Amino acid sequence: MDMSLPEWVEPWARKVPDLKVAPPGPISKAIIEKDRKYVSHAYDRLFQFTMKRASGSAIMDADGNVYLDFSSGISVMNAGWSNPRVTKAIQRQAEELTHSLANDAYFDKEAEFAELLAEISPGRALESTFFGNSGAEGVEAAIKLSRYYTKGHEHVAFMGSYHGRVGNALAMASRVKYKYGHGPYAPGVFFAPYPYCYRCWFKQEYPACNMLCMDYLDKAILEFGGPSGSLASVFVEPLQGEGGYIVPPKEFMPRLRELCDRRGMLLVADEVQCGLARTGEVWECNSTSTVPDILITGKALGGGIPLGAIVAKAKVMDVWRPGSHSSTFGGNGISMAAGLAHVREILDQDLAGRARALGAHAIKRLEELKDMYEIIGDVRGRGLMIGVEMVKDRKTKKPLLVPQIQGLAWRKGLMMITSGMYGNVFRIAPPIVISEEQLDKGIDIFESAVKETESAMSPKA
Ligand SMILES: Cc1ncc(COP(=O)(O)O)c(C=O)c1O
Repeated sequence: MDMSLPEWVEPWARKVPDLKVAPPGPISKAIIEKDRKYVSHAYDRLFQFTMKRASGSAIMDADGNVYLDFSSGISVMNAGWSNPRVTKAIQRQAEELTHSLANDAYFDKEAEFAELLAEISPGRALESTFFGNSGAEGVEAAIKLSRYYTKGHEHVAFMGSYHGRVGNALAMASRVKYKYGHGPYAPGVFFAPYPYCYRCWFKQEYPACNMLCMDYLDKAILEFGGPSGSLASVFVEPLQGEGGYIVPPKEFMPRLRELCDRRGMLLVADEVQCGLARTGEVWECNSTSTVPDILITGKALGGGIPLGAIVAKAKVMDVWRPGSHSSTFGGNGISMAAGLAHVREILDQDLAGRARALGAHAIKRLEELKDMYEIIGDVRGRGLMIGVEMVKDRKTKKPLLVPQIQGLAWRKGLMMITSGMYGNVFRIAPPIVISEEQLDKGIDIFESAVKETESAMSPKA
């Protein structure tokens, strides 16, 4: 497979990073000042620069600095920033129709997109789609649908989970950080330990543990842990994202499938972050041949335009009657055109295969770094969804505070974001069109930031 950049990537985006002034430059500074005054501070704004343009896996700020992007706008730009197939589809659609009135009439691209999602769904078993506007809305729709179908109202979610910031989805987040100050939340969510083997909740070793965490969910939580017998669904990220890019053992999803069937619950796979080729599979569920009852997708689904959806078994989706759920902008003209183009590009360019190949290369390099630097505790991932967990030392596994490494890397032109319950896991999740050369360049920068940090920590290093 050719691992160079696609020919459409702009010339300025091939030479990355390329810093012309120390960020934030003067133009960025002025915009940031206005933003701080008028825009809600709820957004974190980790990086002090302003977005101007982007191409492939590079982002240019208002002062002309070019950064290498290792996060794809949080797993959104899988087929690359400003992919011309997506851009042209948006332009064409905008000239014809923007708001497509999906609530009150039919629209060709909505039917076409839903057909495509059915064709590529896990096991080709999910045949019906409801389109919304974001991942969180997809989660909300899945909660409602699973309640409507089962007539239950209790759910299982996992420790470390993240499903978005709206009411019920937030009730399924396991961290105070997301929930603080906005309660009360809907009752009836039972939290189970996600198989985070690097920091096993039960201090076990896999595979000798025989997945004790699954027995705990089955017996301790679902049998004796207090559900009222009105179970509706299990919400799971097949590869946990915000929780720290955690790859569960291969038995996890099949065992969840079995547990849901036995207990009459729906299995809901949240693939908002891990889906659409990111992990080297079109859907991460495919890696274990697991067919969920409902699949939630978002982020990359719209190719940069707000879009989310649930794709469900027909027998599940068909319980909804007209008016059971809706959204003014669901199936919107622009989001359908952009999303169709993006998903087709992902499939036609075999970006899943590319993610597997580049991911294998990145993991090999990162494992080598782990051998060299004590503060790299764990390297894990699938495809181009790789987590690098930083620790103070390997023995205690005490989480390392990482803003220093992040800041050093950024000042050298690499944008890396973190995840994890302790915020100490770097995500290596660039646009999948990144070249092997750019990936190596980014890993080199990461290494230099790790080296500098470790040397400052230990005079011996
Ligand atoms: C697994 C998962 N589900 C749902 C969401 C929420 O998506 P959105 O931010 O589009 O509402 C996210 C966002 O990060 C996510 O990672």
